[in-house]
Amino acid sequence: MKRLDGKTALITGAARGIGYAFAQAYVGEGAKVAIADIDFAGAQAAAEDLGGAAIAVELDVSDQGSIGRAVDRTAEELGGIDILINNAAVFTAAPVAEITRADFDRAFAMNVAGTQFTLQAVAHHMIARGKGGRIINMASQAGRRGEPLVAVYCATKAAVISLTQSAGLDLIRHGINVNAISPGVVDGAHWDGVDAFFAKYEGKAPGEKKQEVGKAVPYGRMGTPGDLTGMAVFLASEEADYVVAQTYNVDGGQWMS
Ligand SMILES: NC(=O)c1ccc[n+]([C@@H]2O[C@H](COP(=O)([O-])OP(=O)(O)OC[C@H]3O[C@@H](n4cnc5c(N)ncnc54)[C@H](O)[C@@H]3O)[C@@H](O)[C@H]2O)c1
Repeated sequence: MKRLDGKTALITGAARGIGYAFAQAYVGEGAKVAIADIDFAGAQAAAEDLGGAAIAVELDVSDQGSIGRAVDRTAEELGGIDILINNAAVFTAAPVAEITRADFDRAFAMNVAGTQFTLQAVAHHMIARGKGGRIINMASQAGRRGEPLVAVYCATKAAVISLTQSAGLDLIRHGINVNAISPGVVDGAHWDGVDAFFAKYEGKAPGEKKQEVGKAVPYGRMGTPGDLTGMAVFLASEEADYVVAQTYNVDGGQWMS
């Protein structure tokens, strides 16, 4: 008996990186998974890699119509949704004096509104279905404190932690557990972008910031997507039935809260 046998999951931003690792782990534990991503070709390739247990779904989390279509399609093709992982997000960095309105709006539309309204659409489905469910939001250590060059991204992830608390308290009466995972620094394409931002704003050589942050992690290195999958499986499993409205740091010891 696998830990997610018979379960279905919608994972946003799962064409690559952490979301894809979650999809792999869930399929390994017996779940069927919808890989929902704005990069539909990437989602299709990822679903193919995972064989018959995965489908690709086109989704732009900043677009309300797209969220509705993706949730409906997933529910129809997988026969209902038991688990949602709100994973899609965008990183952005700039000195506070240089933050643009467009960049701010884009980050909040994806990271905060995307989380809230995908959560809401899936919660509607779960409530109507009457079987409860699990919702996991992707926060970040960036949401635990401010950073001089990362004000907007930090604010979006603080909002994800707050939404997790409120939605967790509201939805548990429907048997829906809402929790979040707060990673530290996780290697991959996302962090290549972060490294490039710091190269620009701190005058570092490409790759230098990554080396610095890896050395600063108490565990001794950057995380990998695989370091996060255990928590994602646990929060979706029966073992986490009494876990409500929490945000778990999975970050090699970087943050305590
Ligand atoms: N990598 C890290 O160091 C780190 C640290 C803390 C938190 N996180 C969080 O973990 C999550 C995953 O991070 P990652 O490193 O795998 O990111 P990533 O950038 O590698 O992957 C993001 C995925 O989201 C998709 N996406 C982008 N815009 C979208 C949209 N509008 N609608 C739907 N999908 C969209 C992309 O195509 C991509 O597949 C994010 O929420 C991120 O904020 C990452």
